[in-house]
Amino acid sequence: MKLKELDQRELREEFMRQEGLCMVSHGVYAPPDVFDGRTRISEYEWMPRWLEYNFRKHADVNDDVWKEVSENFHEKVYSLTSYPWHLKRIVKQVKGEKVLNIGTGSSPNLNLALIARGKTVWAVDISPTMLLQAVKTYWHHNLRYQLLDARTGFRDHHYVPDQVDTVLAVNSILPERREDVDHMLSEAYYMLREGGRFIGIFPEYHCHMEARDRFGARLQIDETNLRIYDTVGWQCVQTRKTIERHLTAAGFSNLRSEEIQLNTEPEKEMLGELYGIKGDFSFVELLVIADKT
Ligand SMILES: C[S@@+](CC[C@H](N)C(=O)[O-])C[C@H]1O[C@@H](n2cnc3c(N)ncnc32)[C@H](O)[C@@H]1O
Repeated sequence: MKLKELDQRELREEFMRQEGLCMVSHGVYAPPDVFDGRTRISEYEWMPRWLEYNFRKHADVNDDVWKEVSENFHEKVYSLTSYPWHLKRIVKQVKGEKVLNIGTGSSPNLNLALIARGKTVWAVDISPTMLLQAVKTYWHHNLRYQLLDARTGFRDHHYVPDQVDTVLAVNSILPERREDVDHMLSEAYYMLREGGRFIGIFPEYHCHMEARDRFGARLQIDETNLRIYDTVGWQCVQTRKTIERHLTAAGFSNLRSEEIQLNTEPEKEMLGELYGIKGDFSFVELLVIADKT
């Protein structure tokens, strides 16, 4: 998907008109509570409304794949962030104050946990519909939502490199083409400061094979390219070896990985139903941590 550019200035002016807000000077807007204008509302009211408006407009022209699944995402797609014990395990590894959350999705859980720990978060996603759902649920002035394709996005948006202490990607580096795993990781590397940390969660390939071959899971697997057909199409998944190769190619060092077992009853029940699994089976995801040294 290639994001189509909308004229942000036009959108902003339309929004301001609809909301009865003013422009401070030509092309310059400020939060309404610093205006002398008619309406005084706080940034807390104004900003989420603007983001909602903006993402809805983008969703009308831009979204294809995620539109279907973004509503009630957690009923349709398994998300690690719905389970407090997994969430805790991820957040515990976060280093420093500035965090980039790649492919934030519609759920507020991870961002909430980070903000509660005093972090500043850039939450980016390629899907305006996902961002629309996210901002409807949660907004905070230390949480900046951004519509962006993480395969190329940070440089395109003139983000300053070496900015963040931690980059998180929870089941969001799942592109169709394997070379895009490299592109996304090298963008993550670009954004991290020296000494910064990458934390990624990836679906593990071998357990999908086992789920299909031994437990009858409804899964289409591309054994040549290690891809699974899931949710929105073909997605590259990882083994410990493949993700190590990708991270090393992107420049990372001090790689470590551990397996996360999705083996509690609610998880097994959800995944079992989702994939039509017969018997007692747990999926595995890889928690991978690496440094920019
Ligand atoms: C499976 S969902 C995971 C969402 C969230 N991290 C979670 O764990 O609940 C994958 C998310 O990654 C986003 N995504 C996929 N490709 C992306 C890209 N190239 N740039 C930014 N976000 C992307 C999707 O729009 C979607 O919201």
